[in-house]
Amino acid sequence: MEIIIQPDSQQASQVAARIVARLIREKPHAVLGLATGNTPLQLYRNLVRMHREEELDFSGLTCFTLDEYVGLPPAHPSSLHSYLWAHLFSQINLPKERINIPDGQTPDIPAACRKYEQAIRSAGGFDVQVLGIGKNGHIGYNEPSSSLSSRTRIKTLTAETRLEVAAAFGGLDAVPAHVITMGLGTIMDARMCLLLAFGQKKAKAVAQAVEGPVTAMVPASVLQMHPRALVVLDMDAASGLDMADYYIWVQDNKPDWQKY
Ligand code: GLP
Repeated sequence: MEIIIQPDSQQASQVAARIVARLIREKPHAVLGLATGNTPLQLYRNLVRMHREEELDFSGLTCFTLDEYVGLPPAHPSSLHSYLWAHLFSQINLPKERINIPDGQTPDIPAACRKYEQAIRSAGGFDVQVLGIGKNGHIGYNEPSSSLSSRTRIKTLTAETRLEVAAAFGGLDAVPAHVITMGLGTIMDARMCLLLAFGQKKAKAVAQAVEGPVTAMVPASVLQMHPRALVVLDMDAASGLDMADYYIWVQDNKPDWQKY
């Protein structure tokens, strides 16, 4: 794992945007996996700005989103479909036919999940998978106890996660019980994983994922087994890391060709 600690979430998001933008410029037909939540918002804002001001071209890309709530129509304001359209897809030149989002209303969830996996494979697999992390260590919606080799499937949200997102749904009762999410095996197949985490409330999950044992009880810890997992943090999210000084030293002493 490569741990990149920045003074604040704004600078961390700029580093993440540079990493993604470099990939897009080097590989105009890249395949991206995208997370939702508050954490990647500044990354997406940076990418939109780069599209407008620096000619960053999304026209050749293919994108897949990590997850979607079961039962929500795409136009629902809290759907992950709405989120990605509002914050990214509507503001860049990515062709609609290469945007893939799990269908939360599909009548046959297992078949839709198999189809999603097939579509990812047909596209050539992810060049980068953007990830956030839940307070309980989930990535995508792979809650604790998820199989470390799981594929896209239905998952039941934990009570803690449902509470976390309750405000966005106008109350706990409106939060769906189920989601469709890429599995940990799906995420691990990406050629690069880029996990972002900001704020004190993520410090414990980050410390467990980065420095704790690999365990299904902290799903993000599976990234320790990934050959190229970048973890981009602000100071608060890094505050529980025992080896933070070393990670900072590593970044400060990188050879020029390795810098972001
Ligand atoms: C969500 C998503 C994850 C996200 C995580 C953290 O609910 N399914 O993809 O990374 O929880 O969310 P946030 O960034 O809002 O803290």
